[in-house]
Amino acid sequence: MGTHARLDDLFAAAKAVQARAHVPYSRFPVGAAIRDEAGRIHAGCNVENAAYPQGACAEAGAISRMVAEGGRRIAEILVIGPGDMLCTPCGGCRQRIREFSRPDTPVHVAGPEGVRRTFTLDDLLPASFGPDNLDSAGDAA
Ligand code: THU
Repeated sequence: MGTHARLDDLFAAAKAVQARAHVPYSRFPVGAAIRDEAGRIHAGCNVENAAYPQGACAEAGAISRMVAEGGRRIAEILVIGPGDMLCTPCGGCRQRIREFSRPDTPVHVAGPEGVRRTFTLDDLLPASFGPDNLDSAGDAA
């Protein structure tokens, strides 16, 4: 399967789950779809809460599903939001994505019509802190 067909699959999965978002407060539905190291797709939507800070982003849901289903690496991730602006992942989600990514991991940002822009994880979170930092510390702490 070519690159475009694979990206189309990721977009379709994110768009389908975006429609299931629980967003009674913001009315801002977001969908996220991850392709893991085995080629499997895991999708999640934002789930808000009447106690506002307890709401969860779409990316967090997709990552939880990936891990629960046995995925361990994000090969690429696509986020879809409404409106004209780029729905880039929030700061917290950039760090969540970082845990399972490499600096060149693609982060596709889409609107209803398709992918608008593709970043790398390093574009969105330069000089990031990750699992390697802990590994390199050894017993020296
Ligand atoms: N949101 C996401 O789920 N992902 C993003 O990348 C940006 C923001 C959610 C959080 C909240 O439910 C709503 O969008 C408005 O901020």
